[in-house]
Amino acid sequence: MVRSRPASRWTLLLSLLVLIGCIVVPGRTVKHENFKTCAQSGFCRRNRAYADNASEKGDSWASPYELDPATVHFKDGQLTGILIKTTAANEKLRLPLTVSFLESGAARLIVDEEKRLKGEIELRHDSKVNKKRYDDTGKWVLNGGLEVSKSATLNAETETGFTKVLYGPGDAYQAVIRHSPFHVDFQRDGQTHVQLNDRGLLNMEHWRPKVEKEGEDPPEEEDTWWEETFGGNTDSKPRGPESIALDVTFPGYNHVFGIPEHADSMSLKQTRGGEGNHENPYRMYNSDVFEYELSSPMTLYGSIPFMQAHRKNSTVGVFWLNAAETWVDIVKSTTSANPLSLGTKSKTNTQTHWFSEAGRLDLFILLGPSPKEISKTYGELTGYTQLPQHFAIAYHQCRWNYVTDEDVKEVDAKFDKYQIPYDVIWLDLEYTDDRKYFTWDPMTFPNPKGMEEQLDDHERKLVVLIDPHIKNSDNYFVSQELNSKGLAIKNKDGDAYDGWCWPGSSHWVDCFNPAVYPWWSSLHKYDRFKGSLPNVFIWNDMSEPSVFNGPETTMPKDNVHYGDWEHRDVHNLNGLTLINATYQALLERNKGDMRRPFILTRSYFAGAQRGSATWTGDNQATWEHLGVSLPMVLNNGIAGFPFIGADVGGFFHNPEKDLLTRWYQAGIWYPFFRAHAHIDTRRREPYLIPEPHRSIISQAIRLRYQLLPAWYTAFHEASVNGTPIVQPQYYVHPEDEAGFAIDDQLYLGNTGILAKPVVHEDVDVAHIYLADDEKYYDYFDYTVYQGAGKTHTVPAPIEKMPVLIQGGHIIPRRDRPRRSSGLMRWDPYTLVITLNKNGEAEGSLYVDDGETFDYERGAYIHRRFQFRDGALSSEDIGTKGPKTAEYLKTMKDVKLGRVVIIDPPAAWATQSTVDVSADGQTVGTAPLEFHDQQGGKASYAVVKNPGVGIGMAWHLGFPKI
Ligand code: GLC
Repeated sequence: MVRSRPASRWTLLLSLLVLIGCIVVPGRTVKHENFKTCAQSGFCRRNRAYADNASEKGDSWASPYELDPATVHFKDGQLTGILIKTTAANEKLRLPLTVSFLESGAARLIVDEEKRLKGEIELRHDSKVNKKRYDDTGKWVLNGGLEVSKSATLNAETETGFTKVLYGPGDAYQAVIRHSPFHVDFQRDGQTHVQLNDRGLLNMEHWRPKVEKEGEDPPEEEDTWWEETFGGNTDSKPRGPESIALDVTFPGYNHVFGIPEHADSMSLKQTRGGEGNHENPYRMYNSDVFEYELSSPMTLYGSIPFMQAHRKNSTVGVFWLNAAETWVDIVKSTTSANPLSLGTKSKTNTQTHWFSEAGRLDLFILLGPSPKEISKTYGELTGYTQLPQHFAIAYHQCRWNYVTDEDVKEVDAKFDKYQIPYDVIWLDLEYTDDRKYFTWDPMTFPNPKGMEEQLDDHERKLVVLIDPHIKNSDNYFVSQELNSKGLAIKNKDGDAYDGWCWPGSSHWVDCFNPAVYPWWSSLHKYDRFKGSLPNVFIWNDMSEPSVFNGPETTMPKDNVHYGDWEHRDVHNLNGLTLINATYQALLERNKGDMRRPFILTRSYFAGAQRGSATWTGDNQATWEHLGVSLPMVLNNGIAGFPFIGADVGGFFHNPEKDLLTRWYQAGIWYPFFRAHAHIDTRRREPYLIPEPHRSIISQAIRLRYQLLPAWYTAFHEASVNGTPIVQPQYYVHPEDEAGFAIDDQLYLGNTGILAKPVVHEDVDVAHIYLADDEKYYDYFDYTVYQGAGKTHTVPAPIEKMPVLIQGGHIIPRRDRPRRSSGLMRWDPYTLVITLNKNGEAEGSLYVDDGETFDYERGAYIHRRFQFRDGALSSEDIGTKGPKTAEYLKTMKDVKLGRVVIIDPPAAWATQSTVDVSADGQTVGTAPLEFHDQQGGKASYAVVKNPGVGIGMAWHLGFPKI
């Protein structure tokens, strides 16, 4: 008895622990052994060792690269020359260099290797791949902005050993090129902002023959030159070592952002160890990382090698145009204050070190000086975000899987029953017949068209999954055609590469092959993808590509693509090429009735923003994953691909109801707003959630719908000037140092709306940082917050989202709740106005048909609203085109329904009307209601039905004070 008592207590405790373990499913974490660390990647290790050697040598280290002055030519905005690399054996290798100074103010530097360019190398293993370094990344990625500057000139006042080029607006920029050792400083207004090869880490692994030394092991540096084994797969490396590396230093810059995709803070961390720092560089090698971990530099599904460096009032950028596996080391060094010179402040330099496994050195330097200018120039180069169809910015309901067509119809009906708006329902993998894309499971989806028609009744859409792996099967037409046309990616022996994915044994479509395009288009045609109607759109998943039995869950690097390029050269482009093919296919599907394609892609590279949306992949239903979604979304936005969101609710596991509710409240601020869940999770459509959470979630979704006019306007801005759709603190306040690292609050476009989603359990306040001295108003009850450089406590019980509006804005919205955004098309607009310290406000609205490309021919409304001198006016800022008049006619009955002015002049309380004029004519008056202030909440005034069309020029005269 005595002995058994403690034992039974233990048993009880143990059972309790087991029980708790069953209820709270902790976030699981990635299998590290499946992915390389830097030490396990040959070229990463070699380049880090190169850097270590240089830093150990200190001042006695000299980069072995010099520009031969006799070869330097400058003509038409372009400098050419030959870099000489001197090897340890004193060989002199010739590396052609081109520096182009572009009209946009960007500079582009390219270095190639003469021997490989001329094909004067030998391939091993009888390989037939290209001898050149891959130089086609630009073909897939660049979209414009390459005109060389006519005004760039050589600076005549240059000392010996240097070449200097003046360029940029008013010659404010200068590239200072030192010949030996080779080094470039990029200056703006006489100050250096970006330095190349400052630390002497430029490294271009030149071609060399393999020298067999019998019985001898290769020296450590060489052991990964000729082959490399990881996870049971041996990479045959027919071209030997060929990595490229360069250090890029940002003097005086403390923060660098971008280079997605990583589940980490927006301000990138140091990567050479030490407290709070990473041990590994940030890696970019698109991969299907199962149960990815947080606060990590590990690679994820997409990559954009574009970085912004920021310091007070200055932003510069570097775009590393290379699609091979890439790593970036980041170190911050502080130049300490000079004790002898009073007033000298210490400054931080951010030193980055980039290395890629293959390809040529090709990078762009952007000198800003504002984050907006950086976005604009980057967008000129790689293209701006596609203006999506309007439905795509509304709410998407997805899960793996809706199991039958009747199931879909029921979910659709339930949303209506519970009056929750949604626009798109999604079908994952299981709608297909045995995971054969372009087919439907005949048992579970016998009537896809009936289902799509029901959706169309409320202008809703369907998105279906089409992955790039094609099941190997004799009785599958897509597989037969792929094989007979020879359109699959090949293995190193020239046969169609065979790997394992969802359908089992599969081949992969090689979208680098131009012959894929017409074939892929034909598969999407309504008569081939039977059962699909025009309201069906496409989800391209697993396009890293994910290969379950491949090295690092992807393809062997020595696989071969069209054009005899190794997979190594183009890996990070793979997802982008699939988007291109699907985009083309969706356009051709609708010949004569062109609608904008909608594609969701998991894998991406720079340029993907031109035709797709993306998401952060397979996250987990934990508070930490909810938290990291914000910096991930923000970072993608500043790297030029802002149409992104995270799976609302978390993909793996079951979120408890507070977490799910908070996730919706955060998700409405993702540019791409989709709920999604793994096949093993419980159903969690919002209408299934018990009250009060159901209503709270519905309110959040409705807020998204109410603000769709502001969202669509922000998407339009992204589509013409590259500004992120949701913007981080530093982007909006580039002067406010205290805000630079803030990545858990965001601004919606230029609307002044500042949201701080709650991402922690059991909290009922939010702490919002305000950079400036304007008044900020609570979005819902107009409570006033004011005080620059301070954090303000805002109530945030579960039913309340912390959202403020900065003074000085005019926000367009639509207040009538509807079932879908399509049904809001003819609804009146509301304008919400907050005045700034001068009593003024400004805002804009962009509207078009939300479907076609007619906006390119003027079929849109673009208005600037201004409140100034007691009057609110609407001014046309669009450019007329052949379709403008026709479009305006369709919109003539769409009115301005309401104007709400928060915190108006007190004198308005005694007035009851405003004067209304339209198109220069007096129309009459409209009633003005004044609501007194209460507690800390501001007063507000409402103008109802002024009777003016949203597309007209109008003017509301408020009481003079
Ligand atoms: C991948 C996707 C996920 C999808 C699943 C099945 O894991 O990331 O969203 O549900 O594949 O298609």
